[in-house]
Amino acid sequence: RGTMRINERGHLEIGGCDVVDLAREFGTPLYIFDEDLIRANCRKFTRAFVQKYGNAEVIYAGKAFLTTAMCRIIAQEGLGLDVVSGGELYTALKAGFPPARIYFHGNNKSKEELLLALEVGVGRVVVDNFLELETLSRLAVERGQRVPILLRVTPGIEAHTHEYIRTGQIDSKFGFTLPGGQALEAVKKAQGLPGIEYKGLHCHIGSQIFQVEPYRYAAEVMMDFVEEILKVMGLVTEELDLGGGFGIAYVEEDDPQPIEVFAEVIMAAVYDEAEKRGLKLPKVIVEPGRSIIGPAGSTAYTVGSIKNIPGVRKYVAVDGGMADNIRPALYGARYEAILANKASAPATEVVSITGKCCESGDMLIWDIPLPPVEPGDILLMPCTGAYGYTMASNYNRLGRPAAVLVKDGQADLILRRETYEDLLRCDVVPKRLEK
Ligand code: LLP
Repeated sequence: RGTMRINERGHLEIGGCDVVDLAREFGTPLYIFDEDLIRANCRKFTRAFVQKYGNAEVIYAGKAFLTTAMCRIIAQEGLGLDVVSGGELYTALKAGFPPARIYFHGNNKSKEELLLALEVGVGRVVVDNFLELETLSRLAVERGQRVPILLRVTPGIEAHTHEYIRTGQIDSKFGFTLPGGQALEAVKKAQGLPGIEYKGLHCHIGSQIFQVEPYRYAAEVMMDFVEEILKVMGLVTEELDLGGGFGIAYVEEDDPQPIEVFAEVIMAAVYDEAEKRGLKLPKVIVEPGRSIIGPAGSTAYTVGSIKNIPGVRKYVAVDGGMADNIRPALYGARYEAILANKASAPATEVVSITGKCCESGDMLIWDIPLPPVEPGDILLMPCTGAYGYTMASNYNRLGRPAAVLVKDGQADLILRRETYEDLLRCDVVPKRLEK
């Protein structure tokens, strides 16, 4: 993957940096991000959607991984940015990310968050519900502004990794439901409200999707709605945001379609539908998160205690776990692992990798073949770049790990490790507890 390779010492190397050396220099657990691969993934999307078709835009979903340095890379690569909270928006602004390229998502944005979005002039607010529509209109009028929006629609398609379900009405907290007319009501309302400029529609059908069919179907359903809006209201939909969700391979069996194929199918579907219905071609927007940053990030751990239950299982404990990667515990997500200091040694035993949290569910990998494991080995889990750090916690008062960005043999800190002092940062002691 990316710049990952085995070097002459038989160690794993990423971005020209020996993972064992990185672990020694920066400590573990350590998130390692491959800058070349992040950029290559951005460019893959830009080529497949923007350069090939012109009227398209790629915006990175910051919820997958967002830091100041990451914002810089995304800005340099010319992508837009999808933020879902005041905190993500603040991070982007502090990083100098151009506000006009920011899309503001969220199903329950606060008044303060909407005000900040208006003040800095984000490119689009993706409006989720009627309360937000009214609040946004009122705030925009108060400020003498007109805010360009997309309306988030629940199209009645639910995609999973291998299949998707078409349902008449979908049970989702997000967006205006299309079946039944709520979405059309929202467009009418948006048209009638001052301070609101309707630009287009948004939908997101799921995450870690391997197949193209759900996207094709989503494009059809959304273009059908675009036609309805034109017929009923004479209103042109300029932009169609089809969300993110492009799957990646965490383990060998995972078999997602390449980005180029997703792009071809999505763009062909939108073009076909526009032609068939005689509609103006909308600008197509996609919001990849995982597929840009997931494979570009790995986590290095140090092996500690090992518990062998003969004939049952060998538990290999590492110095992190569910606090830095909740995905296995939360979703049953699967990962591979490599011993970075024994990268070319053959696998001889099957072990299970566990974390250091006080919880039996704190398992990172069940039953993985590895070379003989010993305390002090550096275990690397690839593909932890998306939803690893962003979903990390301080459970058991563990400090969040550091993250480095590697490129051409150079490693730079992009997130420093949380210290014990950091853990006390928000603690307050009431007067009556002071002795
Ligand atoms: N756009 C919208 C509106 C979304 O809700 C999401 C993800 C994305 C884009 C980006 O999706 P991606 O390309 O990253 O699949 N924590 C879960 C994933 C939750 C995804 C939520 N929304 C995980 O770790 O698998």
